[in-house]
Amino acid sequence: MSDSKAQFADRIIDGKAFAEGLRARIGVAVSELNAAHGLAPSLAVVLVGEDPASQVYVRNKGRAAEAAGIAAADHRLDAATSQDELLALVAKLNDDPGVHGILVQLPLPDQIDPAAVIDAIDPAKDVDGFHVVNTGRLATGQMSGPNAALVPCTPLGCRMMLEDRLGDLSGLEAVVLGRSNIVGKPMAQLLTQASCTVTVAHSRTRDLAAVCRRADILIAAVGRPQMVQGDWIKPGATVIDVGINRVPRPTDDDPDKMGLVGDVEFDAAIAVAGAITPVPGGVGPMTIACLLANTVTAACRQNGLAAPVW
Ligand code: GUN
Repeated sequence: MSDSKAQFADRIIDGKAFAEGLRARIGVAVSELNAAHGLAPSLAVVLVGEDPASQVYVRNKGRAAEAAGIAAADHRLDAATSQDELLALVAKLNDDPGVHGILVQLPLPDQIDPAAVIDAIDPAKDVDGFHVVNTGRLATGQMSGPNAALVPCTPLGCRMMLEDRLGDLSGLEAVVLGRSNIVGKPMAQLLTQASCTVTVAHSRTRDLAAVCRRADILIAAVGRPQMVQGDWIKPGATVIDVGINRVPRPTDDDPDKMGLVGDVEFDAAIAVAGAITPVPGGVGPMTIACLLANTVTAACRQNGLAAPVW
């Protein structure tokens, strides 16, 4: 453990431990669905090509699903797969009542338009929450009932950790750094629903440091290693670091060794913040746990059952 982690241990939001608890609750819910309704939630994960990072993610998702009692089927397609071939597989999975969740791992090879593929997924099975039906439901606040939004996993996990740490978020100033469809935009929607005052900042924002310094809640999701510095953080703020950046970390034994850092300069930030997620061990494990939660939610709704409240 680094010196700053040890010195400020109570400021660390332990996403790994939180995710373990959530995964245990999901496991219990899966057992109960099985026993009471004969329902076995299942997830189809589609990977096109051999991108090494995607292979690791897909393997981790499959293992986590199996550990929670969710059946996970891998569909691995050649890097030269055409868009029509992938759409045919998506159509087959849409039509299969035994498949409750479909995830097509991104990025896709250049010959395939990701928007066309996401559009083709049945919104009820879209456990990534990327389909426009789900983004629209999130934007309009359709969050409960059989036709509620499936919410993208990373922002869903961030909100769970924030509410666990802070309780009621209403009235807090939130700054979301990054405006991606996967994280920044849905995160801003969730924080707005939680009655925060939300600013979405990005690479063109003037005086980013001053904007970040306003935040009671700072979400860093820009994908730039350690961009957010300690003096960008308001004393006592809660910082959620979504970045997962691979950077060189050479050692005497291994000059090519790589390590992971977030979008926040952790050692400087933890000395100022009230609470912060580490990288690794913060947002990442929660994203996978929320994918499992979404799969169970989707399975319940497809079978006319109320989804658990996670
Ligand atoms: N690639 C990186 N993150 C994600 C994700 O959350 N979902 C999918 N489908 N692909 C990804």
